[in-house]
Amino acid sequence: MLGVYLSGTGNTKHCIEKLLSLIDKESVIVPIENNDSINLIKENKTIYLAYPTQFSNIPYMVRDFIKKNKDIWKGKNIFLLTTMGAFSGDGTGCAKRILRKYGAKIIGGLQIHMPDAVADSKMLKKTFEENQRIIMEADKKIEIASKNIINKKYPKEGLSFFSHLLGLFGQRLYFFNKTNKYSKKLKINNDCIECGLCVKNCPMSNLIIKNGKVVSLNKCTMCYRCISQCPKKAITLLGKKVYEQCRFEKYCKK
Ligand SMILES: Cc1cc2nc3c(=O)[nH]c(=O)nc-3n(C[C@H](O)[C@H](O)[C@H](O)COP(=O)(O)O)c2cc1C
Ligand code: SF4
Ligand code: SF4
Repeated sequence: MLGVYLSGTGNTKHCIEKLLSLIDKESVIVPIENNDSINLIKENKTIYLAYPTQFSNIPYMVRDFIKKNKDIWKGKNIFLLTTMGAFSGDGTGCAKRILRKYGAKIIGGLQIHMPDAVADSKMLKKTFEENQRIIMEADKKIEIASKNIINKKYPKEGLSFFSHLLGLFGQRLYFFNKTNKYSKKLKINNDCIECGLCVKNCPMSNLIIKNGKVVSLNKCTMCYRCISQCPKKAITLLGKKVYEQCRFEKYCKK
């Protein structure tokens, strides 16, 4: 069994690792940006594909990965796992529709509430305790789902027509065409000390250091990894100031 995931701040990574460790200890799990991910998908029949919900939608990077490699999905059994900060009508359904077109069978879907990754929005900020509680509940949900999956009772969250309507009218229609411009808003301010961490860790290789400055190549998938890791909180995207960097492991320390 194979798990492939995109994770900006670690939430999705945790969820897929926990789920697969409970279902199949032999499973292999790789980040989608890993060079081996395509070959591993070709070699495996059952794939757990996981990603964070963005604006009730699938992140560009994952959508483009599926489309660019459209020949590798035929005959595969795909389970979709998405994480979300609050609401995702059909975060899993968005990938279902594309993958089905390419001949995959969708065996199930799981949508898990996790801490919100958007570090530069005061409105979305939660307390440490709230985030800890959210993770505890997520873990419980994963444990229940794993037992059902072992018994071949696959959860089908976000896959129904009703969920499709919820995602579409709840958020996607509003954000339609707006989000293309959002990813170009990535800003690096003068507090940057050129440590190179963001350049090294961006899953899109979107950041480079040029003439002593970090520069965005405008292919950001809005994962918030660099924003949540920068030691100087020098990077913003949707907001103007980083309020609290979201990193999954932070909420597991105490
Ligand atoms: C750009 C962006 C858009 C998001 N949009 C939504 C959304 O529409 N609904 C939602 O519930 N959560 C949304 N979130 C929250 C993430 O889905 C959530 O925090 C997720 O667990 C992050 O996972 P990761 O740490 O694996 O990247 C958004 C996060 C980002 C960065
Ligand atoms: S992580 Fe922050 S400080 Fe380091 S290079 Fe990137 S923007 Fe600059
Ligand atoms: S630039 Fe930052 S937010 Fe954008 S894809 Fe890279 S790591 Fe993610």
